[in-house]
Amino acid sequence: ALRCYLSVLKAEAKRNLAASAEISIGLVPTMGALHAGHLSLMQRARQENDIVVVSIFVNPLQFGPTEDYQQYPRQLESDRQLCDRAGVDVIFAPTAEDLGIGKRAEGAEGAEGAIFNRQPSTDKQLPITNYQLTQVVPPEEMTSVLCGKSRPGHFQGVATIVTKLLNIVQPSRAYFGQKDGQQLAIIRRLVRDLSLSVEIVGCPTVREASGLAMSSRNQYLTLEQREQASYIYRSLQHAQAAFIAGERDRQTLLTTVEQVLALAEGVAVEYLELVHPDTLRPVNRVEEAGTIAVAARVGTTRLIDNIILRDR
Ligand code: PAJ
Repeated sequence: ALRCYLSVLKAEAKRNLAASAEISIGLVPTMGALHAGHLSLMQRARQENDIVVVSIFVNPLQFGPTEDYQQYPRQLESDRQLCDRAGVDVIFAPTAEDLGIGKRAEGAEGAEGAIFNRQPSTDKQLPITNYQLTQVVPPEEMTSVLCGKSRPGHFQGVATIVTKLLNIVQPSRAYFGQKDGQQLAIIRRLVRDLSLSVEIVGCPTVREASGLAMSSRNQYLTLEQREQASYIYRSLQHAQAAFIAGERDRQTLLTTVEQVLALAEGVAVEYLELVHPDTLRPVNRVEEAGTIAVAARVGTTRLIDNIILRDR
């Protein structure tokens, strides 16, 4: 039905253009609970394409068994309003069944929020292979580092769903935020490796006034925790200032971040790394570019952020 509707929209758009003109589709994949970060992607897509599609799907494949799949905010009505205001043409909000992801577990009640085909297990790190589904498996060296260390299977789940969405919508361009820098690098690599004909557009991280990167998970934070969480970006800015002043050494740059983060007692660092933005390999001296990436817990909420260091 989506494909059918898109072809109608394409035909309509074509009527206003020269017969030979190619109609472009911009896709913004999301998990909903939309905020100003998502909005910036939609606006960019609106500027660059004839048709803008936003997908909203809380993807069970990318959540671990102890993660927040059940609590993840679902607010389709306010999301719809935001998309309307952004001039989005199509919201694609499929169910897991629409996407053919697993079978509903025997006896599971309700459509939304059901966990699909997950075997009961005491293993905290339940592997993604518990879904009876063909997986897209990006290079291990990109999926097992940074967030991949504590979220096994996560990036396979992301890669699988993004590949599915790209195949269903067949956009000319797809928009992703630098906020999730590892995800962006993996998707760029996947599109190259599988020769997918889509342009991946990376968009800058949108922040709250405090510097805290916007995230649907910020809803979990108390006011006090938000204040603590703002140290994450502050710490990255200190490293950026050192970089601009000429510092290139890994340890010195990371120590700068650590020292600022140490001031925030409520921030428990999970990892702090300096990697190449495209390959995600550790960098000892920043030559052409480096990304400082942080994951930390504030209370039980896991937050990530990063900053790209690059000579301009
Ligand atoms: P979600 O977390 O909803 O994010 C959707 C897109 O918005 C991602 O590309 C993400 O990087 C971008 N984004 C989130 N916060 C941002 C911010 N503060 N500034 C700029 N961009 C921001 O990422 C996902 O969903 C999923 O993994 C998905 C790609 C949809 C696959 O399920």
